[in-house]
Amino acid sequence: MSLKDHPILRAARGEKTDYTPIWIMRQAGRYSERYRRIRAKAGSFMELCRNPELAAEVTLIPIEEIGVDAAILFSDILVPVEKMGIEVKFVEGKGPVLSPKVETADDARRLKVPEPEKDLPYVLETIQLIKRRLTDRPLIGFSGAPFTLASYMLEGGSSKNYINAKSAMWNSPELWDTLMGKLVDTVVEYLSAQIEAGVDLVQIFDSWMGVLSREDYERFVFPYTEKVVKALKERHPSVPIIHFGVNASHLLEVNNRLPVDVIGLDWRTEIPFALERIDKSIQGNLDPVALFADEKTITEKVEKILTEGLKARGHIFNLGHGILPPTDPAKARFLVETVHKLSRELRT
Ligand code: CP3
Repeated sequence: MSLKDHPILRAARGEKTDYTPIWIMRQAGRYSERYRRIRAKAGSFMELCRNPELAAEVTLIPIEEIGVDAAILFSDILVPVEKMGIEVKFVEGKGPVLSPKVETADDARRLKVPEPEKDLPYVLETIQLIKRRLTDRPLIGFSGAPFTLASYMLEGGSSKNYINAKSAMWNSPELWDTLMGKLVDTVVEYLSAQIEAGVDLVQIFDSWMGVLSREDYERFVFPYTEKVVKALKERHPSVPIIHFGVNASHLLEVNNRLPVDVIGLDWRTEIPFALERIDKSIQGNLDPVALFADEKTITEKVEKILTEGLKARGHIFNLGHGILPPTDPAKARFLVETVHKLSRELRT
């Protein structure tokens, strides 16, 4: 089978598959003992992201340990942000801390648009190493979307209420447009470089777009995301794009206008509700906490999602957000086996 005919790529394009393929957001992460060992060897999380040999090794763990159908590049959405001129640190128990924050239009003008070959060579090298070792399954590349990245840069880290981000959006048009414009260029160049280095499809993490009302999203965010997607489709028309956000049911109709192939759903969005609003392939959407339930409960929830997913133009199974660090890897493996087995049965 040519890699182009892999079920993940077929489902993304809306073609028939023999079973429903699955990968898991954050599949190379702290729930895996092997990940934790390699991470300790690397030093900090950011150092692990900058080490192609170790990052490639970590990327491949979930293929062996839980049997997922694709690998996702091991990195972080904040890796390119560091090269825009903002320091990024991961503080235990607090998450990412960025400094200095972007506060004025001048701050935004000073930001650099990273040149991937020159500024992020370790990411491209990691992709090349993985592609040499992983020949039978696709490799997923990714980037944060302009809004999600802007929110970290304006807030200086994770946020509950997005006060700085929303104030900049409403009150400082020059700051907002300069920052979002730099991020559009950064994301387009970064994802194009990943594609040229060998990734087979890409996911754009617009994780926090759901904190915006539909009106604000449509006016202040959608036009920038649309620019990113259109530029990528022009340069790389055959590479599928997945667009994902959390708590974003109210944005489905708007996002259906993006020329993406797949829309990622979290567990609060019911698949039939989504299918009334979008005609793209879908990805998702088991509650990550379901992996703490017993196998019977997991099986019932998976069967419902698979059955509803059969009505979509294409379906890639995933959790509705990242796998949680205390998850038992045996449960993740059970999930993958169950999705494969039930989705074959449901097709006969
Ligand atoms: O999915 C994968 O396995 C690929 C790698 C990946 C990571 N982060 C690894 C990671 C991807 C695709 C991301 C995306 C990412 N990073 C997003 C978007 C997805 C989402 O969750 O909505 C966001 C918002 C970030 C920013 C970020 N990075 C946060 C908020 C955190 C958590 C901080 C914490 O301490 O919990 C990270 C850290 C991070 N990114 C880890 C991993 C494996 C854990 C780092 C560690 O080992 O300590």
